[in-house]
Amino acid sequence: MAVLELRNVTFKYQLAKENILEDISFSIEKGEFVALVGKNGVGKTTLCSIMRGLIPTFHTGTMSGQVLLNGSDISEMSMGDIALHIGFVFQNPFVQVSGVKQTVFEEIAYGLENLGVERSEIIRRVDEMLNQLNINHLRFKHPMQLSGGQSQRVALASVLVMDPEILIIDEPTSQLDPQGTEEVFETIRLLKDRKKTIILVEHKIDWVAEYADRIIVIDQKQIVKDAPAQAVFSDPMLLSTGNNLPQVALLALKLMKSGKAVFDEIPTTLEDAYQQLKGRVR
Ligand SMILES: Nc1ncnc2c1ncn2[C@@H]1O[C@H](COP(=O)(O)OP(=O)(O)OP(=O)(O)O)[C@@H](O)[C@H]1O
Ligand SMILES: [Mg+2]
Repeated sequence: MAVLELRNVTFKYQLAKENILEDISFSIEKGEFVALVGKNGVGKTTLCSIMRGLIPTFHTGTMSGQVLLNGSDISEMSMGDIALHIGFVFQNPFVQVSGVKQTVFEEIAYGLENLGVERSEIIRRVDEMLNQLNINHLRFKHPMQLSGGQSQRVALASVLVMDPEILIIDEPTSQLDPQGTEEVFETIRLLKDRKKTIILVEHKIDWVAEYADRIIVIDQKQIVKDAPAQAVFSDPMLLSTGNNLPQVALLALKLMKSGKAVFDEIPTTLEDAYQQLKGRVR
């Protein structure tokens, strides 16, 4: 059974003239790592809010269709029940900060505290997160006095520490440097190894190509492609939706255009390109 399924979802924000999303359907199995891709303003964050049940409850508008979480319609579930299953990392990390805690440590511990988890277990899990996301040096800092990138890591930690079965993560690396970006992707990989279901919105296509299994491309209110990462990122059609292809794929396509068939198939990851090339170059 799918852990999360959308059936013919259409949504229009209250004051908008047109629908933002139309007839969106897909289903996600347990343990899948799916990336949502689309240009700015296409409705990715809106779609995340729909999956998390924040639409149409908090952000009002007109919605039709269904969202099923483990087979149950989320419109019949409470926000709290949904939150037990779905962890949501907001695009803007400052939105995630509780505003009631004095240190990063306490901030990350907040959700577990609310669930009444035992203190020693809270400390163990928060420590694990601080190390995992390389933010141990921030543990005594005030959550409101962090840089954008630091805040982004703390926001991610505060959701991951809850250990939800499904994670919806909206642009977690937008304010991070290359090292921070790699650490976040490595963290997401660990989650995948633990059979978590992951839905990620991310513009850094090279990273998405290296890590995600399946890509859903949104353009002009609809899903225009839903396929394995290799298939999506080797197809120049993606360029026409305002998204980039991975650098290695662009290189391979350029070589191909100039009549140099160096690759058997368009590589989408560095490893893929390396495997195809290593026997051929002197
Ligand atoms: N609460 C709201 N009320 C009305 N319109 C909204 C609301 N929130 C977002 N929108 C509009 O819906 C459209 C889609 O926004 P959304 O944030 O979902 O896009 P996105 O794909 O996440 O973009 P980005 O890549 O910039 O994060 C935008 O035109 C935006 O202005
Ligand atoms: Mg967005």
